[in-house]
Amino acid sequence: MGEVLRPRIVRKPPANTDLFVVGCFAREAPATAGLPSRVATAARQAVERRGFMGRDGQRASTRSSAPGTPQVEVWGLGRRSSCDLARLGRWLERAAAAAGRDGFGRVLVVLPEHEALSGREHAVVLLRRLASTRYRFEEFRAKPDRHVLRSASVLPPAGQAAAYREAAKIAVAVARGAALTRDLANTPANVATPEWMAERAIELAGEIGLEAVVLDEKQLAEKGMGGILAVGGGSARPPRLVRLSGGDGPVAVSLVGKGITFDTGGISIKPARTMDEMKFDKSGACTVLGVARAVHELGLPLRMRYYLPLAENMPDGRAYRPGDIVRCYNGKTVEVLNTDAEGRMILADALAWAEEESPDWLVDYATLTGACVVALGQNGAGLFTPADDLAEDLLAAAAEAQEPLWRLPLWREFSRAIRGQHGDLRNVAGRWGGASTAAAFLAEFVGKPRRWAHLDIAGPAYRPRARPKTFGATGFGVALSAAWLTRIAGRV
Ligand code: BES
Ligand code: MN
Ligand code: ZN
Repeated sequence: MGEVLRPRIVRKPPANTDLFVVGCFAREAPATAGLPSRVATAARQAVERRGFMGRDGQRASTRSSAPGTPQVEVWGLGRRSSCDLARLGRWLERAAAAAGRDGFGRVLVVLPEHEALSGREHAVVLLRRLASTRYRFEEFRAKPDRHVLRSASVLPPAGQAAAYREAAKIAVAVARGAALTRDLANTPANVATPEWMAERAIELAGEIGLEAVVLDEKQLAEKGMGGILAVGGGSARPPRLVRLSGGDGPVAVSLVGKGITFDTGGISIKPARTMDEMKFDKSGACTVLGVARAVHELGLPLRMRYYLPLAENMPDGRAYRPGDIVRCYNGKTVEVLNTDAEGRMILADALAWAEEESPDWLVDYATLTGACVVALGQNGAGLFTPADDLAEDLLAAAAEAQEPLWRLPLWREFSRAIRGQHGDLRNVAGRWGGASTAAAFLAEFVGKPRRWAHLDIAGPAYRPRARPKTFGATGFGVALSAAWLTRIAGRV
C-alpha cells in the first residue's frame, strides 16, 4: 500500500536530525525557539544572506561542510498577516519534497507561532498533508523511487504540544484512509475489475471487522437491480454490489460510492483523447472504502453501512443502448437516453437499497458529471442536498478539513426535466445544469430525500495526466468525511 509518514511531535530536536526546516515570516526572525543555539545561529546566518526576504516559498540554507553538522533550511512564509492554513500546508509539502530530493532522511520541522498553526483542527490538516507527502503509486513499476525521507519530527509552536500530539494520531488515520482510496483509484481497469474491487472490500472488511455482503449478477437480477445490471451488461467483467456494515452507536450513517471501474461511455462512446482518465471513475467507491478505514482507525462510535455499486461501462453486443427502458430496485423505470450517464444508473439501485435500511444520514460520492468540473474546477466538489442542516454540517467539515465543497441547487425544474416519456424517468435532460440534473435524478431513489447529500467529486478526485508531477488519485473526500463523522459521533 502507498505509505504515509508518521509525524513525531517532539519537545526538543531528536539527536539524529539530518535537516532542520525552519519557518520564517517576512520581516521577522526565523522561528528558532527550542533549537540548540548553534542551529539557531545557523538559521539566522542563512537569512542574513542577501536576497532572503521571507517571501512565500523562498528558501535559504546553510552550506556547512563540516561532517556531522546538521543542515538548516529556512523557508519564507510571506507576511504573517496574509499567511493562512493553506499556505502553511503547501510549505510543509514543498519542504518535505525538497528534503527527500536533497537526500535528507530525518527532518525536523520547526513551526512558528501563528493563529493558523494553533489548535487541534488546524494541526490535523497540517500533519495530514505532511503525512501524505510520502504517498507514491509504484505498484506497477520495476524500480520504485528511492524513499529518502524516512521520518519527520515536528516541533510545535509554543503551548501547542498536546493539541499536536492528539492531532498526529487523527492525521495519520485520515492519511492512511486517503492512501487506500488513492491506491485503489489509481489501479488500472485491467486489474481493478468489479470483482477485484469487491475482493478488496472484503479484505478491508476482514481487517477492520465489518460484515461483508457481495451481490453477484445472479443475485442482482433476483433483487431487481436493473440499473447496475444494464450498465454492467456490456462488459466481460460482471458487475457487483458490495455492502459492508458494522460499528455501534446511536447514529446510523450510510455511504454510497460510484464504482465504475472504467467508463468508455458505452454505446454513447466517449472521445478517445482523455478516456484513460476514466479508470478514476470508481473514485467514489474508493473514497467510501478510505472513509471506512479512517472511521475504524479513529474508533468513531457510529453504525456504519457502506455500499459500492461496481460495474464496467463498455460497448458490446450485450451492452445497454439508448432507448432501453430499465427497472431499478425501487420499481421506477428509466429510459436510457445516453449510456454515458451510467453513474446515476448504478447509484439508483444502491441508493434505493441504502434508503430501504433507513439510515439517519445518507451520503453518496461520485465522479458523476463533467458539468460539475466545468462549474467548480478541480479544487472542490459539488454538494447537493435538500437538507439545510446536513449542508451546514458538511460545509463546516469541508472547511475544517480544507477539502472545499460548494453547494449547488436541486431546483424543481431539474426534477421536471428528467421525467420520462415511455418510462418514469429519463437518465439525461438538456445540456444546461448537468450536475444538478444528475443530482435530481439520484433524488428519485432516496424516497423523501431529507437526510441525503450527494457529492459530485468528478473534479477533485484526481489530477489529470497532463500535469505529470501531480497525476493521479487525490483521496479527496476522506478528510472532510472523517471531520463530518467525528462531529456527528460527538454530538449525540
Ligand atoms: N464519469 C463521467 C463524468 C466525468 C467526466 C468524470 C469528467 C470525471 C471527469 C460520467 O459518467 C459521464 O460520462 N457523465 C456525462 C453525463 C452526460 C452524458 C449527461 C458527462 O458529464 O458528460
Ligand atoms: Mn459516463
Ligand atoms: Zn462515469
